Amino acid sequence: MIVARDVPALRAALATLPRPLALVPTMGALHDGHLALLRAGQRQAASTVTSIFVNPLQFAANEDFDRYPRDDAADLARLQAAGCNVAWLPSVEAMYRPNRATAIEVGGPSEGFEGAARPGHFRGMATVVAKLLHQSSPDLVMFGEKDWQQLQVVRRMVADLDWPVEVVAVPTLRDPDGLAMSSRNRYLTPAQRTVAPGLYRVLLETAAADASPAALAVGDTHLRALGMTPDYLALVDADTMRPTTAPSGPARLVAAVRLGTVRLLDNVGVPP
Ligand code: PAF
Repeated sequence: MIVARDVPALRAALATLPRPLALVPTMGALHDGHLALLRAGQRQAASTVTSIFVNPLQFAANEDFDRYPRDDAADLARLQAAGCNVAWLPSVEAMYRPNRATAIEVGGPSEGFEGAARPGHFRGMATVVAKLLHQSSPDLVMFGEKDWQQLQVVRRMVADLDWPVEVVAVPTLRDPDGLAMSSRNRYLTPAQRTVAPGLYRVLLETAAADASPAALAVGDTHLRALGMTPDYLALVDADTMRPTTAPSGPARLVAAVRLGTVRLLDNVGVPP
């Protein structure tokens, strides 16, 4: 595996690889969910590049940028063992010029939910994903369904900008008790970790009751009974992220809750 730390080294490494190429964008602290993205990329492409970059632009001042888990040595060992071809580990200075003046603003699906709870988050996310796409020019880019709204924001950006890259959605990987894998799960205390899978259970119950307004109210009560504070539990159009009560096409039940200091996100599909 080649480890690249600046754009010329990345492009030189990628030039040697057979196409198609799949990009797996990550912020490191790799878990099995990330490796599932890599494996999906390996199934669909001849070569893979995984980026590890904790992107300061997508964290607000009061968020966990400084304490976000970082372990490059362990991450590189996992990528090497998994057969990734190139690891792309830019420093903040290699990613962002000091006088940079460009950002990507996606409207539509970035409005509401995470966009409302984390102002500026999707601008920062879209800006770095746009840069990662330009830097590596992949044929495919792999995104987990766990961050459903992020996936829709990236899809919209790629469509709006006529980007010749396929955005591949990879199903959420879960622990055996149902908790969606996330680098932030390591912030949970043992007591919170036993409660956390309740989020997925409530999503499944609510979806089984057609995510009707009454079912959403019951779901909200169940989440609070578990000691979680919901930021939202909502049925949305799966593409536009607009709230809906009577979906005419694919819909998604999305939720974010606070459990102590940890914010958990999850979502499930709701059949029409
Ligand atoms: O989902 C993430 O880990 C990040 O938002 C991403 C896509 C790597 C951009 O920083």
